[in-house]
Amino acid sequence: MRVYSSHKELLKSLGNNKSIGLVPTMGSLHKGHLSLIQRAVRENKEVIISIYVNPTQFNDKEDLKKYPRNLDNDLKLLKDINNVLVYTPSDSDLYGQDEKSKKYNFGDFMNIMEGKQRPDHFDGVATIVEKLFKIFTPDNAYFGEKDFQQLILIKSLAEKLNPDLNVVGCKTIREKDGLAMSSRNKLLSKKERESAGEIIKLLLKAKEMNSSFNYRKIKNEVDRHINSIEGITLEYFEIIDLSKFINISEKRAFIACKVGNVRLIDNISL
Ligand code: PAJ
Repeated sequence: MRVYSSHKELLKSLGNNKSIGLVPTMGSLHKGHLSLIQRAVRENKEVIISIYVNPTQFNDKEDLKKYPRNLDNDLKLLKDINNVLVYTPSDSDLYGQDEKSKKYNFGDFMNIMEGKQRPDHFDGVATIVEKLFKIFTPDNAYFGEKDFQQLILIKSLAEKLNPDLNVVGCKTIREKDGLAMSSRNKLLSKKERESAGEIIKLLLKAKEMNSSFNYRKIKNEVDRHINSIEGITLEYFEIIDLSKFINISEKRAFIACKVGNVRLIDNISL
């Protein structure tokens, strides 16, 4: 592992004509991130991991402030992996002074759920990922299905920027009780962590009901269940036929909720 805070220095150290895999992250690495990294290491000669809490994708300043950061521990987790270059920039290595997000239009699928609940969030994500794609020109870039709308957004961004860039979607890695791994899980108290374990149960219940019941009935059941769990409030629950928005024929259930003050999202294929 080698660590760079300047993209120019990192670029100088890249071998020529080698396949490059890119794994963008905001750090506080967990096994979900590591699964992307391991896949990138298997499929590329060199792998760049960026660790950067991108301010433009946080529509809530408080959320940005309390987002978990733990670079020392992140580097410990990565230190024994060969051929990885870790990019840990400061804001000024990526953004000009007072630079704001670019404005994008990614179509209707980006205006629902996360796009609706977190105004400007996807503009911030696309802005930073476009910068990383342009700087490092990777052959392959790795993103998790955990953030499913983000994955779709990045596929569409990559198609526009460089059709040769392969965006690889990776399965969601879960804790033993099924909770999707997330850096934000570290912010949960013991009690909240227990309640958070119910989120996947709601999604699995929806999956089970999907073959025999309509959306309204399933939504009522989700509402009933969630009201019985201490400390959780539902932000949205949706069953989406993706084919209505994008070129994927699949139905997925999506959920966002607040556990105490911590906002968690998850989704599964039905
Ligand atoms: P972050 O939340 O750190 O996630 C980095 C990558 O890891 C994303 O592609 C995310 O989908 C994936 N990931 C997170 N939890 C996962 C899990 N449990 N299983 C599998 N993959 C998981 O997503 C971001 O950062 C940022 O928006 C970023 C793309 C880096 C732009 O700033």
